[in-house]
Amino acid sequence: MVSMEEELQIIGGSELEGDVIISGAKNAALPILCAGLLTSETISLSNVPDLHDVDTTINLLSHLGSTTKRHTKNEVSIMSNKIENLKAPYELVKAMRASILVLGPLLTRFGEAIVSMPGGCAIGQRPVDQHIKCLSALGADIRIEHGFVIAKSRKLKGTLVRPDVVTVTGTENIIMAATLAEGETIIENAACEPEVVDLSNMLIKMGANIKGHGTNRVIIHGVDRLYGAKHKIIPDRIEAGTFLCALAATGGNIKIKGINPNDMLATIDKIRLSGVTVKQDDGNLICSISKRPKSVDIVTREYPGLATDMQAQFMALNSISHGTSMIVENIFENRYLHVQELNRLGADITINGNFATVRGVDFLSGATVKATDLRASASLVIAGLVAQGKTTIEQIYHLDRGYENMELKLQKLGANIKRAINRNEE
Ligand code: EPZ
Repeated sequence: MVSMEEELQIIGGSELEGDVIISGAKNAALPILCAGLLTSETISLSNVPDLHDVDTTINLLSHLGSTTKRHTKNEVSIMSNKIENLKAPYELVKAMRASILVLGPLLTRFGEAIVSMPGGCAIGQRPVDQHIKCLSALGADIRIEHGFVIAKSRKLKGTLVRPDVVTVTGTENIIMAATLAEGETIIENAACEPEVVDLSNMLIKMGANIKGHGTNRVIIHGVDRLYGAKHKIIPDRIEAGTFLCALAATGGNIKIKGINPNDMLATIDKIRLSGVTVKQDDGNLICSISKRPKSVDIVTREYPGLATDMQAQFMALNSISHGTSMIVENIFENRYLHVQELNRLGADITINGNFATVRGVDFLSGATVKATDLRASASLVIAGLVAQGKTTIEQIYHLDRGYENMELKLQKLGANIKRAINRNEE
């Protein structure tokens, strides 16, 4: 039996030169698409990234009864005037945990939602107990049965809610649920990520009453209904950060175009410490480095700290930088699956709990490695760009979940990278 699987093949050693345009943010697009469930009118979205996870979300919304239309690869409209089904099935939720983001909208608009419990994933258990705790505080009757979250509520009532941990999608679910609840909801310990702000800005365009978004204290006054709106998704700060780490590793000069530098200051500060010159020119970053990068210590934190979604990429950079660095992953309990793959390429990384020590080596050598999760695959691409000889990355569907045309963008910057089909005879 022959199985066909896509892989990336990279010949390391090319410097990066030229311009790269950053796509819309995956982690803003996903909640904003789900926000379409909150109104019977049409929401029209532009700068939507062309990603596997966006396809999955659109499929889920269609499954629920929304009319979805992809006008171009980056423009999508949603009209949820005929929602017949309030159940998000396991098949779709297991493909993408962020499907939990339909829980808040369905519950607050229709009084009911049945969403398959998202399983864990490679990087951790990723429970949704805080989503459940806070939606219950708003008056929902929620129980877990046969692997489903079953939530019911005649009408949600605003109150003070406080997730025990800072949770991005948890904050997003609560905000969406509160937009149509009765009265005032105050969220303490809210996530401040730019993607939470972008969702809130979209909801305000739809008629929601939200204040304090982007801070740890968000106040929502419920309204009777929400309306259609148009919205352009913010640029993806993690994709931009990934290209910054790639440049720092390969050397060269690139212009990263169409970003909000203020959304990624922690990453820019850190990449400057590695020796990259970064100049801000309106919505672009002009970046260059001509010598071996210096190792930089990494401690991941909730926003505005250094994003956990940047940890694997900095680890790849540190693996060939001058010196030894310490990495501390504070957000997820198992976000080091890329370490063994990087070590296969000759990196010298040891893990002790959520600490990793990275001793910079003079060179990596190409090999076949496998992607284990989205950001791990990005770190393997960065390593392959500098490894001597050929690196083959298998299971790159992980990469396609969160990066639009990564290899095409890198080819334009001069990298020797291509997508190929691996015929596995089994
Ligand atoms: C969002 O995931 C992002 N995904 C993740 O990006 C990102 O890594 C993460 O936030 C942290 O920034 C989307 O926005 C679609 P959390 P989310 O809830 O919301 C614990 C990527 O690579 N927790 O903020 O699922 C949890 O286990 C992806 O693009 C609970 O304990 O993350 C984790 O340790 C990966 N109970 C911490 O909180 C809960 O109910 C932060 O998780 C919820 C979370």
